[in-house]
Amino acid sequence: MRKIPVGILGATGIVGQQYIQLLQNHPWFEITWLAASERSAGKSYAEAVHHRWLLHIPIPEAIANVKVHSVEDASEAKKHCDLVFSALSGHEVEQIEENHAAAGLWVFSNASAHRKTSDVPILIPEINSHHLAIIPRQRQRRGWNTGCIVVKPNCSIQSYLIPLYALHKQFKIKRAIVTTFQAVSGAGHPGVASLDVMDNVIPYIPGEEEKSEWEPLKILGEIKGDAIEPLSSMVFAAHCNRVPVLDGHMACVSAEFEKKPALEEILHVWQNFRGAPQEQSLPSAPEQTIVYRHEHNRPQPRLDRNTHRGMAVTVGRLRSCPVFDVRFVGLSHNTVRGAAGGGILNAELFISSREH
Ligand SMILES: NC(=O)c1ccc[n+]([C@@H]2O[C@H](COP(=O)([O-])OP(=O)(O)OC[C@H]3O[C@@H](n4cnc5c(N)ncnc54)[C@H](OP(=O)(O)O)[C@@H]3O)[C@@H](O)[C@H]2O)c1
Repeated sequence: MRKIPVGILGATGIVGQQYIQLLQNHPWFEITWLAASERSAGKSYAEAVHHRWLLHIPIPEAIANVKVHSVEDASEAKKHCDLVFSALSGHEVEQIEENHAAAGLWVFSNASAHRKTSDVPILIPEINSHHLAIIPRQRQRRGWNTGCIVVKPNCSIQSYLIPLYALHKQFKIKRAIVTTFQAVSGAGHPGVASLDVMDNVIPYIPGEEEKSEWEPLKILGEIKGDAIEPLSSMVFAAHCNRVPVLDGHMACVSAEFEKKPALEEILHVWQNFRGAPQEQSLPSAPEQTIVYRHEHNRPQPRLDRNTHRGMAVTVGRLRSCPVFDVRFVGLSHNTVRGAAGGGILNAELFISSREH
């Protein structure tokens, strides 16, 4: 099969670097376009990330000398690729992504800019693959021919929403309180100053609690006409903390159900949970999306973030809750499942179910 040429917008940042790594030897995709801000445009990739390459592997040889382009060049990007992964930060993301979709590219974004846009799906392939059905309407409304925008949620959400969704299907969740412990890599590079975060916990991440409470409701919502209508029967309260961990976002969850499940039933549901990535054998699908650890002191970021190549959610400490019904701890790798790996899985799902 001819590989699909793909680009990375924001290729020089933390998430962009993770895309470079995860797309090496990808069976379907081949990197043919790199773009970032004017600061990096015109440089080779190696020059652009000089002193800020953060991964444990060297910059892949095939990428080091590739020229970084400006993200302003959407029509030029379309000549080189069919699909772009957006790992952009900054104020112009919304417009830049729309320019690429208007140029005919499929845009798979990690940024928050379009998460609230009513005809843009926030996709977690195990949960709401059916939301891809809004793409033809998105194109029609905006006059886009082949282009489209699909986004993934905030980086901490997969750590608690995937295990909750698995239970919601049978037992209907009414409300949940989620307290997150989020790694420093979640803030991009250079991110939080070391003098602020070392030996410390910062109980505030701008904008994060609102995203953690609202995005799950859109993901669990339904397409009504030209929009995705968020679920109204569930409510989340979030406390988001920045902790001195490099990678891996953890969430402590207490949840209340319409029909309280027994702990054994919950374990059974998690162990047997499968979704579209496994059913369609997508290349980046974890063998098991939810991995339960029975040890009392798991999950832990350092030990569990790389489970199934960083694409699984590790869950532990399931017990009853004296205030709500049950409580547990979830953990996922924020720059893999929570960012680049999640973006790639979204693109694989899109390609695999392409009547779009
Ligand atoms: N880090 C995570 O765990 C994580 C998880 C999920 C989602 N996200 C989201 O993914 C995006 C990237 O995050 P990150 O952590 O990789 O950030 P980052 O390390 O700060 O990288 C940002 C990237 O965007 C480019 N950029 C910044 N301002 C720009 C502008 N005005 N015009 C064009 N390009 C611009 C940068 O290019 P230069 O290098 O040329 O400046 C760089 O390539 C953000 O929207 C973030 O919210 C991050």
